[in-house]
Amino acid sequence: MSTDELVARDLASVWHPFTQHSRWAEDRPLVIDRAEGMHLIDTDGVRYLDGCSSLWVNVHGHRVPEIDAAIRRQLDRVAHSTYLGLTHEPGIELAEKLLATAPRSDTRQLTKVFYAGDGASAVEAAIKMAFQAKAQQGEDRPLYLHVAEGYHGDTLGAVSVGGIELFHHTYRPILLDTVMVSSPGIREPGQTAYDRAVAVVAETRAVLAEQGHRVCAIVVEPMVQAAAGMLTHDAEFLRGMRALADEHGAYLVADEVAAGIGRTGLMWAVEHADVVPDLLTCGKGLTAGYLPLSAVLATEEVYSAFLGTPTSGRTFFHGHSYTANPLCAAAAIANLDLMAARGTVAHATHVGERIATLTAGLAAYDGVLEIRRIGTMTGIEVRSVGERTGFAVCQKAREHGVLIRPLGDVVVLMPPLAIGDDDLEHLVRTTEAAIREVVG
Ligand SMILES: Cc1ncc(COP(=O)(O)O)c(C=O)c1O
Repeated sequence: MSTDELVARDLASVWHPFTQHSRWAEDRPLVIDRAEGMHLIDTDGVRYLDGCSSLWVNVHGHRVPEIDAAIRRQLDRVAHSTYLGLTHEPGIELAEKLLATAPRSDTRQLTKVFYAGDGASAVEAAIKMAFQAKAQQGEDRPLYLHVAEGYHGDTLGAVSVGGIELFHHTYRPILLDTVMVSSPGIREPGQTAYDRAVAVVAETRAVLAEQGHRVCAIVVEPMVQAAAGMLTHDAEFLRGMRALADEHGAYLVADEVAAGIGRTGLMWAVEHADVVPDLLTCGKGLTAGYLPLSAVLATEEVYSAFLGTPTSGRTFFHGHSYTANPLCAAAAIANLDLMAARGTVAHATHVGERIATLTAGLAAYDGVLEIRRIGTMTGIEVRSVGERTGFAVCQKAREHGVLIRPLGDVVVLMPPLAIGDDDLEHLVRTTEAAIREVVG
């Protein structure tokens, strides 16, 4: 079937996420047919470097023999069986592997894994857990504290703890009760990242002095507010939030859906601050970009609040048809094994450092307002020269065989962690050329 025919059929029957359909046709949809390594190939046979890791999920590139084989092996055993009242080896093994990598301290350790599907559904589970655990400890805490510019997914609980006006304001009338503090990533002129972190912690302290007894959880994106445009912050913010959560008897939920699994150059972003959360959510890169699987890692303290007799009502009444799908779990196990064998997290640090070197020229160019980066997660904020400058840059890069996506006027580079030096140089150079061409 021709590309034109496929696009016509798409227009006739498909509604895409985060897509303004009045523009979809004129933006010339690409129809992806297959992939090889770091490249996606469209139905006309044109190759594109996957510079956004297929929306921040891909780790080793596409069609990785070891992961393909792991999924096929699992297919020959069973594609799916419920996790309600049954279990299976891939789900058990993955939980063990995740917990073995999880951050820990002398006083706090993540000891249980609850599976979900996408990132948002992990956040949803985590915030329900926090509320229910506190309730079952006899505490009435119906409030969440969250951070301006945060993004945790698009289900209503996750939107409730989000703070991106454009995405979230429409739904405010139907959301959970929350209190929001300022973003640690938006600095006043002349303010250092550290001072900003200290200021937001002080603001949070003041909020909690009034309302702390009602807050069941503080929900944060550790080290970087990704969807806000890679707004990075100082580790002091996380340390401060951890201390405040402890002081006020609230849980700290670290949403590592975007930043976890190595993207920041450490396995978990909270490691940059030596902070251990009570609940940690992950997704995206967990299956190396193969299949939808997310998880909540919980401390024994949270988990034990749910123990009781079957009739006590203390059960976590939450789950999904495809919870812990074995194909997804097999992909995730193969991914974590490959990451360990290949030193992928250390490689991510190298990739980040090379991005810094390669973007040095761009940083000095007056068409670029700021470059923000942690590990491989990079946001290049360009000067606006029209209605959709960031989008125009990405379209231009696409003409030169590179797929990247904007967040407003922030052009995001988020290559697969395993990207090699040549592909990375091509990604950055093409992006630079596209920015200079569009911004002038
Ligand atoms: C920090 C964070 N949490 C949650 C999500 C939602 O994940 P998903 O799109 O898989 O639902 C995202 C998605 O970008 C994210 O960046």
